[in-house]
Amino acid sequence: MTNRRPMVVAANWKMYKTVRDVEPYVASFRRAVPRDGVVRIVFFPAAPLLGAVVRAVDGLAEVGAQNSHWEQEGAFTGEVSVPMIAALGARLVLVGHSERRQMFGETDATCAKKVRAALDGGLTAMLCVGETLEERNAGHHRAVVIRQLTRSLGDLPARDDPPGRLLIAYEPVWAIGTGRTASPADAQDMHAIIREALATLLGAGASGRVPVLYGGSVKAGNAAELLSQPDVDGALVGGASLAPEEFAAIVAAGAERAARRS
Ligand code: PGA
Repeated sequence: MTNRRPMVVAANWKMYKTVRDVEPYVASFRRAVPRDGVVRIVFFPAAPLLGAVVRAVDGLAEVGAQNSHWEQEGAFTGEVSVPMIAALGARLVLVGHSERRQMFGETDATCAKKVRAALDGGLTAMLCVGETLEERNAGHHRAVVIRQLTRSLGDLPARDDPPGRLLIAYEPVWAIGTGRTASPADAQDMHAIIREALATLLGAGASGRVPVLYGGSVKAGNAAELLSQPDVDGALVGGASLAPEEFAAIVAAGAERAARRS
C-alpha cells in the first residue's frame, strides 16, 4: 500500500539562538534546501523567537512552539498559551519533549491536557514519546511508549478530527544529544508499535494518517538510513538543526525518501 503520510523534518532549537540569529540562519537555509516542496519543514524555536521565525521563513516552513500551557490564560507566571502562540503565526506545538518530562516535571497527564488544548486552539500537536535507557535495558520500552501514547491521547474527543493535526515524535531518551541513535531496525520496530497503538486509540484510518517522526542524534550522515524505514515518516532534529546547511541536508534526505515512497 502506498504510504500517503507526508515526510516531515523538524528542527528543535531548544534554548539556543537569539532573535538576531534568525535572519542569517534562514537566509543560509533557504540557499541550501531543496525547493521541491515534498517535505513538510517545521522549526521549533524558543518562544521569544517565534514571530521572527514566522516572518523569516515566509511560507518555506511551518513554525511551532516548544511548549505551551493548557489554559488559555491566567495567573501562570512564565508560561505561554496556545492563543499567544497562534497570534504570532505559529501553527504547531511540541508536547512532552523528554527534557520537559525529565527536568520540568511534565507527566502523561499534563501532556494529555496540552495536546487537547493545542487541538482545541487550532494548533497541530507534536507529541513526543520515548523510553529511558533503564527502561530499554529492562525490556520495557514498548510498554512505556504505549502507556505514554494511551495516557496522552486516550481521551481525545473527536476521533476523526485530530489526526490531521497530530504528529508523534519517537525519541528514545538515551539517543537525545548523546550521539547514539537507535538502529534503523530498532527505530522501525518502535514506529510499527506506535502505529499499532495509534490504530487502537484513534481508529485504523486515522492512525494511518498520523506521521511518526524519529528523533535522537539525527544528523546529515545518518538521516537517509533512518528515513528509509517504512514507518519512519520524518525526523525531529536537535543539535544538527542549529547549522542551516546540515539541517538542509537532512531535509534533502527526507525529500529523496519521500520521492521514493510516493
Ligand atoms: P538531538 O535532539 O538531535 O540533539 O539528539 C533531538 C531532540 O531533542 O528533539
